[in-house]
Amino acid sequence: MTTAVDEVPLARPVLGEPEERAVLEVLRSGQLSLGPRLPEFERRFAQRLGVPHASAVSSGTAGLHLALRAVGVQAGDEVVTSPFSFVASANAPIYEGARPVFADIDPHTLNLDPDAAEAAITERTAALLPVHIFGFPADLPAFERMGLPIVEDACEALGAVHADGTPVGGRGHPAVFGFYANKQLTTGEGGLIALDGPERKQRIDSERNQGRAPDMGWLDHDRLGFNYRLTDIACAIGLAQLDRLDGMLAARARVAGWYRELLDDVEGLDLPCRDQHGDVRGWFVFVVQLPRGVDRDATVRALRERGVQSKPYLPAIHLMSFYRERFGHRPGEFPVCEDVAARSLALPFFPELKQEQAERVATALRSVLAR
Ligand SMILES: Cc1ncc(COP(=O)(O)O)c(C=O)c1O
Repeated sequence: MTTAVDEVPLARPVLGEPEERAVLEVLRSGQLSLGPRLPEFERRFAQRLGVPHASAVSSGTAGLHLALRAVGVQAGDEVVTSPFSFVASANAPIYEGARPVFADIDPHTLNLDPDAAEAAITERTAALLPVHIFGFPADLPAFERMGLPIVEDACEALGAVHADGTPVGGRGHPAVFGFYANKQLTTGEGGLIALDGPERKQRIDSERNQGRAPDMGWLDHDRLGFNYRLTDIACAIGLAQLDRLDGMLAARARVAGWYRELLDDVEGLDLPCRDQHGDVRGWFVFVVQLPRGVDRDATVRALRERGVQSKPYLPAIHLMSFYRERFGHRPGEFPVCEDVAARSLALPFFPELKQEQAERVATALRSVLAR
């Protein structure tokens, strides 16, 4: 899809001279992978979250895979998770021969509903995989009371904070972040698992690196491994992005504030839930739910004609063709998720979005909905 010069794009990373300098330094050092930027990036990220360890990996998806292995998920197990997520959180258990078991979401936060999740637990449930969707903290205290291992999908939730003041990802469960280009912090592609103990870090560091033995001796492999390494080039970009993360998060929150002011009174339009009970969102996307009965595809086209990009986001995972065919899912199983998925639309959202662009987006959406 080409972008007209003055079209408001959906997303755009903040990249500049610090990232350029960081990349050049790595290129000039000649050590492009397994160099000093990797442990430095992990240490600084862990410090930010207040966790003792972190393992950087090649993507959020790779992180989810290794995190599930780390909590012991095996073939034949079940993992209870959200059908309203990016597909990777549901796919990850399948890599291990386990089954993702969906439960419906909370209509307000759009996160996995703890009561529904609890009802989906069986004797085969090996883990819970809540997703902090659109950067809003999942109800971790409720999931923790269920007494099962937890892996957190925090790919969209950098900067989010739980009601008790703990950063999302800092509660002691393996928590996975993603650094794809649309994320709060990007390394192009990349991910990281926040970890509570050295044993898990040792296992994950080995598994991401082809199952190397603990001394990491070259060509000494004592377990099944993968190539899920993150390059030093990516880690250098990540370090430069960490330096400017607070500013980028604040800019995203500012843009969200403009949209809320501009769109709050549009009848039937649901905006992202406000921070509540002390939980604070780490702003990732600005996704609205269109009024019921509005043709979403026609809305996307009409917005495009007015120079505004938008995207249906996210589809219900259980209704994707692979999931229907593999697990026999059918419409009607998770009504809240299905209703939200049918109406949700992502608007342009990135730190450098200007106030006049937000106004253009809001004016365009209002005029399209008023037709
Ligand atoms: C909720 C969620 N889970 C998992 C992922 C997968 O991350 P990645 O694209 O880095 O593999 C993403 C990112 O796209 C995501 O948004």
